[in-house]
Amino acid sequence: MEGLWIFLGFILTAVCVHDTTALPTKWNQSRGRPRSGTDPQFKEMFFTQILDHFNYNSLGNGTFSQRYLITDQYWRRGLGPVFFYTGNEGDVWDFALNSGFMVELAAKQEALVIFAEHRYYGKSLPFGQESFNIENVGLLTVEQALADYAIMISELKEELGAQKCPVIVFGGSYGGMLSVYMRIRYPNIVTGALAASAPILSTAGLGDSGQFFRDVTADFENYKPTCKDAVKAAFQKLQTLAQKQDYARIQSAFSLCKAPSSDKDIHQLNGFLRNAFTLMAMMDYPYDTSFMSKMPAFPVKVACEVMLNGTEVLSALRDTVGIVYNSTGEQICFDLYSLYVECADPTGCGLGFNSYAWDYQACTEVEMCFESNNVTDMFPPMPFTQSMRMEYCAKRWAVVPRPGWLKTQYWGNALSTASNIIFSNGDLDPWANGGIRKSLSKSLIAINIADGAHHLDLRASNKYDPASVVKARQQEATIIAQWVKAAREKTL
Ligand SMILES: *[C@@H]1O[C@H](CO)[C@@H](O)[C@H](O)[C@H]1NC(C)=O
Ligand SMILES: *[C@@H]1O[C@H](CO)[C@@H](O)[C@H](O)[C@H]1NC(C)=O
Ligand SMILES: *[C@@H]1O[C@H](CO)[C@@H](O)[C@H](O)[C@H]1NC(C)=O
Ligand SMILES: *[C@@H]1O[C@H](CO)[C@@H](O)[C@H](O)[C@H]1NC(C)=O
Ligand SMILES: *[C@@H]1O[C@H](CO)[C@@H](O)[C@H](O)[C@H]1NC(C)=O
Repeated sequence: MEGLWIFLGFILTAVCVHDTTALPTKWNQSRGRPRSGTDPQFKEMFFTQILDHFNYNSLGNGTFSQRYLITDQYWRRGLGPVFFYTGNEGDVWDFALNSGFMVELAAKQEALVIFAEHRYYGKSLPFGQESFNIENVGLLTVEQALADYAIMISELKEELGAQKCPVIVFGGSYGGMLSVYMRIRYPNIVTGALAASAPILSTAGLGDSGQFFRDVTADFENYKPTCKDAVKAAFQKLQTLAQKQDYARIQSAFSLCKAPSSDKDIHQLNGFLRNAFTLMAMMDYPYDTSFMSKMPAFPVKVACEVMLNGTEVLSALRDTVGIVYNSTGEQICFDLYSLYVECADPTGCGLGFNSYAWDYQACTEVEMCFESNNVTDMFPPMPFTQSMRMEYCAKRWAVVPRPGWLKTQYWGNALSTASNIIFSNGDLDPWANGGIRKSLSKSLIAINIADGAHHLDLRASNKYDPASVVKARQQEATIIAQWVKAAREKTL
């Protein structure tokens, strides 16, 4: 509370000092109350952002309101660093509430903390409800998002009297990719980046298409090889029933609200089932969480126990995916098409507006042609080739993806001239092997976290944390402190 008032006081001071009528709109506060459970230290704000950074003509000086969260309660005013989270594909509160490490580090290093929301996600919709109309969605690009962050950082620094404060960017997953890109695209603004679980190689088309589901499978197999065998056997039994078109049996075995009636429905069922394993592998944290969905502690272990406990493989498979889709215990039956939506990202796009945005990004710059094959993984063969992607994207969004663009624009694996980036990855995370696992130079540092799931290091400390992540966070803290110190010495 106290920090909040100091912060408010400071804004008023800033307004007075600059004496500009433009400021109040920039500092508009959200009228909506933060959802319950949100961190009261964060203040929710909106920034007047340029709509199109690259075309001066078509939209002129059009703007939109971009949401961000800020807390200055640990900041050594005017001197401490700025820790800036480069928001990714979702509501910014979700990232703020699942990245407690940044706040803990800010307390130690006296930093100002900002979480920015990515355009076209959460409340940062440039065209409101119309944002996903074909004629409006074109301003959703990685380049525009990075430019948003560059402008926001520069203006906020000025308004807050933070001109001399080095900026460190943080991000997890796609947010981690954006952190890498910020450092290589705007080294004038960003001193260093912590990119957690950032699959910068696989999403740039580098690597093999079987990697992702192979690594999902490995998590279950490493817990118990019989677990993988049971899952495989269940999918095989499903396939046999599907070939016989025994749809009634499939409906009852999986508690489906509606009986499947076509190959398309079976394909949807397979995608729905596979997606639950993907989420459990990504969120295999040592304590229960509610990040992308509600998860028990060690969901992979729980899944394997359920899978191996059942007497009949199909109902065991149903109960296993129920860990994800029936975490409330309130699903009477599974509605295949509302619980899982197939899109241009075979690892899932989620649901609602945010899923439209991510689907569009997967149809344009971000390449995710991952497939399962029932040879290197435990899932049915579900190919997703560039030509299938192109066909889908043309139909859904009237765009043709450009394979190779991300690699050209953001360097792919040719990073030798970059600096000050930490690439952290957890060994349990199926995204890890799509990223940088070996240090490339003294300042391009890979940190691998045994027993770590998807960006575990960004999460707040927890008594159940494995020693590996405690050590990783210490390493990250030390490196970041060094970057800040070196940058400050240069500016003084
Ligand atoms: C800020 O609030 C004012 C007054 O309520 C409103 O006119 C303006 O559009 C708002 N600006 C933003 C960026 O939300
Ligand atoms: C841009 O700014 C100019 C000059 O202030 C103004 O005349 C024009 O209407 C603005 N255009 C848009 C799209 O806001
Ligand atoms: C295993 O099955 C037994 C008997 O049906 C049940 O009591 C137990 O809770 C199950 N364990 C798990 C982990 O599902
Ligand atoms: C969801 O969980 C509840 C409680 O365990 C159970 O009764 C119900 O059958 C489950 N729903 C499905 C579709 O499996
Ligand atoms: C997976 O491969 C095995 C042979 O190795 C085959 O018997 C089984 O039917 C396949 N399963 C599916 C779902 O395609």
